[in-house]
Amino acid sequence: MSQKRLVEVVDDGGDTLTFLNDNDFLIPNFPDGVGIDGVRSVRIRDDDILMCTFPKSGTHWVFEMTRELLTGEIINDDITKVDAFMERISKETYGNLPSPRFLNTHLLMKHLPEDVRNKKIKVITVLRNPKDVAVSFYNFLRTIPGVKYKGEWKNYVRPFFQGTFVYGSWIDYVLDWEQVKQDNPDLPVLTLFYEDIKEDQMREMRRICEFLGVERTDDFMSKVCDNTTIAAMRTLKEKDDSRAKVFRKGGVGDWKNWFTVAQNEWFDQLYQEKMADCPLRFKYTL
Ligand code: A3P
Repeated sequence: MSQKRLVEVVDDGGDTLTFLNDNDFLIPNFPDGVGIDGVRSVRIRDDDILMCTFPKSGTHWVFEMTRELLTGEIINDDITKVDAFMERISKETYGNLPSPRFLNTHLLMKHLPEDVRNKKIKVITVLRNPKDVAVSFYNFLRTIPGVKYKGEWKNYVRPFFQGTFVYGSWIDYVLDWEQVKQDNPDLPVLTLFYEDIKEDQMREMRRICEFLGVERTDDFMSKVCDNTTIAAMRTLKEKDDSRAKVFRKGGVGDWKNWFTVAQNEWFDQLYQEKMADCPLRFKYTL
């Protein structure tokens, strides 16, 4: 039986954030969303492609470049990843999306349909350094009317990293996907890093093309780069004010403007404790 209820969680200053507790996992309260049980029972098509990310890791950006690489077309519409966001969309939308569907989610593998593994669906994961993720998420949460968050940064960092907020802890999320990759060596997973794409988008797009089995010319890919700058995407995608502000700064290293020395030391210590055995290496500056 599905267990869903709205809950308020608090930061260290007593400010509240409202989320949906869905099967003991916090997700945003999407009015038409199928929720976790709905996601679990989605009928996976053989050619579905999945993008799995922790929020604020560059999902919108990679969604846009990937769908242009997939179709071989420069697309100037206002569709974004939220239109194929598994826990947000309705059952009807799932049925209406044309194949190959490029779905995305912030959920964990245990929440996804078993056919993702059975059918060996292609999965793209995008990772971003946790300090910039924290800053990006803080600013984003404050723009979402349903979350109603007014808290201060100094009261947000600890509960964010300890997994009090929506989608739980960044560390748990990253470790979970590393485990999934280890346990399912024949599941095709492409791991991208936000910072690598910032560093050399053409190189990373070649990796996406190879993974998806499509061939695109450098000339075309350079047009994709131009069409997926943060400025270009902001103009195309934020026409409609009802979409929360996603296209904020789009850089690497903004965390230095936010973390105090004490917060930075606290997080580095936490990272050492929890991520010591994790082979991933994150870039905090470029
Ligand atoms: P910042 O808040 O640090 O600017 P997601 O799409 O997973 O929600 O991630 C949002 C983050 O990606 C935001 O980071 C946003 O600005 C950044 N972003 C979105 N589009 C981008 C683009 N075209 N180029 C670079 N960064 C982009």
